[in-house]
Amino acid sequence: MKKRYLFLFPLFGLLLILIVKYSTETGNDLDAQSLSECLFCKIAKGTFSTTKLEFEDEEFVIFKDKNPAAKIHYLAVPKQHYDSIKALNKSHIGLIERMQNGMINFLKSKDVDLSVAVIGYHVPPFISQKHLHLHGISPVSEMSVSNRISFFMPSFWFKSSQDVLRSLQRSDLK
Ligand SMILES: *[C@@H]1O[C@H](CO)[C@@H](O)[C@H](O)[C@H]1NC(C)=O
Ligand SMILES: [Zn+2]
Ligand SMILES: [Zn+2]
Repeated sequence: MKKRYLFLFPLFGLLLILIVKYSTETGNDLDAQSLSECLFCKIAKGTFSTTKLEFEDEEFVIFKDKNPAAKIHYLAVPKQHYDSIKALNKSHIGLIERMQNGMINFLKSKDVDLSVAVIGYHVPPFISQKHLHLHGISPVSEMSVSNRISFFMPSFWFKSSQDVLRSLQRSDLK
């Protein structure tokens, strides 16, 4: 192979990791859908008793991710069902701000150093559950290479909560 094509190898590797992650995560999706109601809707309503809610208010809940990417890995999930950040518009700025503050305050209560935390959303089709969920993960140094790629900010597959807010304010979340 000619030397100038060597740059394709890392790109290929990245693509492969994304495809593997996406296909395994879609597997979860199918499981959830075959249970007839969205899994995160059930968890947020407290009717999925095996998931312990760590925080709850009238708008959203916080619970542990069942496949943690690091020692600390929580999800903030709204009680109202939205497929993903693509379903949001300007009217959801308040919700996204409150979920972000809720996650930040929750992580602070766990003594998490926010400077080494990841707080953000996957972008479709790279979503594990088709119900909006904000990831709060720390520390980055504990994450595997594939998780570092999967939760890399900013990228076309993962956006920080702050970036999502900025996009909503500019109304160009597409
Ligand atoms: C924003 O989304 C909501 C549904 O979540 C919808 O009812 C509303 O019409 C949308 N607003 C705009 C300006 O698109
Ligand atoms: Zn749902
Ligand atoms: Zn996700």
